[in-house]
Amino acid sequence: MADNDSSTAERGAWNSKLGFILAASGSAIGLGNIVFFASNAYQFGGGAFYLPYFIALFVLGIPVMIAEFSMGTMTGRSFPMALSRLVGKKGEFVGWWSLGSALFITMYYVAILGWAFCMMVGAIFGLMEPGATAPFDPFLEPSAAPNAQVYFFGLLASWWPMLAVLAVWGLTLVALWKGTETIEKTVRVAVPLMWVFMIILIVRGVTLPGGTDGVMYLFTPDLAGIAQPDVWKGAFSQMFFSLSLGLGTMTAYASYLPKDSDQVNNSFMVSLLNCGFEYIAGIAIFSMLFAFALNPVGGTLSLSFFAIPQGIAAFPFATKVFGFAFFFLMVMAGVTSAISLVEGMASAVIDKTGTSRASALAMVAVPGVIGSVITTLPFIVDPGLGGNGTVGLNFLDILDHWAFGYSLLAVGLIECVLLGWVFGADRLRAFVNQHSKLKLGAWFDVLIKYFIPAVLLTVIVWNLYLDL
Ligand code: PFF
Repeated sequence: MADNDSSTAERGAWNSKLGFILAASGSAIGLGNIVFFASNAYQFGGGAFYLPYFIALFVLGIPVMIAEFSMGTMTGRSFPMALSRLVGKKGEFVGWWSLGSALFITMYYVAILGWAFCMMVGAIFGLMEPGATAPFDPFLEPSAAPNAQVYFFGLLASWWPMLAVLAVWGLTLVALWKGTETIEKTVRVAVPLMWVFMIILIVRGVTLPGGTDGVMYLFTPDLAGIAQPDVWKGAFSQMFFSLSLGLGTMTAYASYLPKDSDQVNNSFMVSLLNCGFEYIAGIAIFSMLFAFALNPVGGTLSLSFFAIPQGIAAFPFATKVFGFAFFFLMVMAGVTSAISLVEGMASAVIDKTGTSRASALAMVAVPGVIGSVITTLPFIVDPGLGGNGTVGLNFLDILDHWAFGYSLLAVGLIECVLLGWVFGADRLRAFVNQHSKLKLGAWFDVLIKYFIPAVLLTVIVWNLYLDL
């Protein structure tokens, strides 16, 4: 038996299309849109990054999302079982492999959320403001925390993040408890709130003296920068992660939709919402960076975890409110993504074995919680590692390096090859077009069969070359 048909009746279903769009965009909008996107855009020089990223959206992001959504509606199954039904056993193997990566990514993703949670609490108490005293660890002497960096480093050396990680996992599991029903309830509140908070932060950022310089920096095309191949590599990898592709989540979410859903429309909506959010998050972050002439050095987390909070602490008023808003936003955006990662894995276990939701969630959560806790342990995180005051997060970096730099992209590559060549890009397109208003042309087949695999292969080989 390939999978457990008895689970069909209780698999769950979205109450409305809106519920699905909120859930899928909640998955896509996450730490990637705030922390990683801003750090990539900063590293690659603002205006040099936007255009390649925009192109990556159309030639890679949207087509792969259409494919992943359609796998869900075609089969009514989550990732491994959907692939198994479409291309046989080898597909199922790729599906489980991708969920293995999803588990590792969830571990460190929630760990980062744990830190964000602690920063959120710290902001309420004004612990990042100049001259504040932060007794962040009852086992340590209270120490002066004149700025966000000192506070953050103190936090990393404490046990608080471990508790925060447990809280974030708890929240995630509560939202997943009754499947689509509770996920939908959560995203109906969290996703609109995220937009409201982000808009408040933008207004604050661009009205700061000098804030609009950051916006100019972001949106002024930098032709010399665009000519650099690694900008393109960064844009393509970031796009994959940002749209929650290659980890089984989008297929799982789409499997709760009616078979005749318009997946071209859904993919455009979700990916445009995601990238729209990313661009406006960029405006908020870069306006603050420029207003306070902040210069984040090294480390992916430094920009969002201490440069921006440092800027916020220097706001002329309401520093606590804005500090809280920034990290609250990050936690909400991240939790709705973590929910989707866990749902992708749990629904696959249910589809395969027919076990109860509670035990499927436990099978994912037990290793997940352990991994997240390990990532945040003070002796695992080594703030000195990166040298010159940057954060070297060794366990996190290792997970990120393998899961993000290779596994995710390799799954995307194989998935496109299997769908494009074994199942047939034309068959996939025929299914999609049956239910979509906007019809896909033969260009879709070319992208899925040739272009996207070639791009992903190039990025993987390039990463290997850099590693050797
Ligand atoms: N897209 C999320 C982000 O940008 O933070 C991360 C993510 C969630 C990736 C779910 C993959 C996934 F399946």
